[in-house]
Amino acid sequence: MPTVLILGAGSDMAIAIARKFAQKKYSIQLAARNANRLSALVTDTTLRYGVDCTLHEFDALNYASHPDFFASLNPKPDVTVCVFGVMDDEDAAFSDWKLTERMINTNFTGAVSILNTVAGWYQSQKKGCIAGISSVAGERGRQSKLVYGSSKAALTAYLDGLRNKLFASGVHVVTVKPGFVYTKMTESLKLPAALTATPEQVADAVCSAVDRKKNTVYVKWMWRWIMLIIQCIPEFQFKKMKL
Ligand SMILES: NC(=O)c1ccc[n+]([C@@H]2O[C@H](COP(=O)([O-])OP(=O)(O)OC[C@H]3O[C@@H](n4cnc5c(N)ncnc54)[C@H](OP(=O)(O)O)[C@@H]3O)[C@@H](O)[C@H]2O)c1
Repeated sequence: MPTVLILGAGSDMAIAIARKFAQKKYSIQLAARNANRLSALVTDTTLRYGVDCTLHEFDALNYASHPDFFASLNPKPDVTVCVFGVMDDEDAAFSDWKLTERMINTNFTGAVSILNTVAGWYQSQKKGCIAGISSVAGERGRQSKLVYGSSKAALTAYLDGLRNKLFASGVHVVTVKPGFVYTKMTESLKLPAALTATPEQVADAVCSAVDRKKNTVYVKWMWRWIMLIIQCIPEFQFKKMKL
């Protein structure tokens, strides 16, 4: 039975991803802060899908713990999905370095820290798959997503580079750009229904991308074209816009 490791397992998106992989008969490793709060999910997953499901304490910001965290996993996962992330209010973050630092250090530094460890193992085994949840917000720098967007831009570049680095070793890396998703992160926002995915749609896209070895996936196809148009706006015009 293959195993999937889900990093940041407490989010709605992560729970949907765990259920989707469990449906496909993967054993599930759920890694999160205060992991014990997810014990009901473990029971539900085990009973509903008849697969192993285990909890693992994981803090993306505790970089020093990442090698021991990964070493403690038995079995080692065949697939690793990096879901964790933070999106704080950008105006608050602009004047509060702690918020800015937390976004950068969670979304980028934390992801690089744990995924370097996972990638090193996969490279040595000449197999494995990493899927990272990045964001369309990383496709062009803009004021409304100043720090969050730039941290995701860095994550996208890292995932794309990792795919390039690991290709020769038979290891695959998927960059996932969900667009808007109905989750706790966005519950205070008014999102356009046509452009907003459910966590279950993200989970379907992640599973399918892992199966088909896709490189970059947009959960809702429109986002690929929306972001292409946004990227094509000349800078002299773009800098005057309030996006
Ligand atoms: N919602 C959207 O519209 C959207 C769009 C594009 C991309 N994304 C990305 O999708 C991913 C999931 O987000 P979501 O929408 O499901 O939001 P969410 O419900 O806020 O989930 C974020 C998860 O990240 C975890 N996390 C934060 N800091 C962590 C740390 N230091 N160590 C371990 N886990 C940590 C949180 O853990 P706790 O449960 O312990 O707080 C939470 O479970 C994020 O990477 C986000 O940037 C979201």
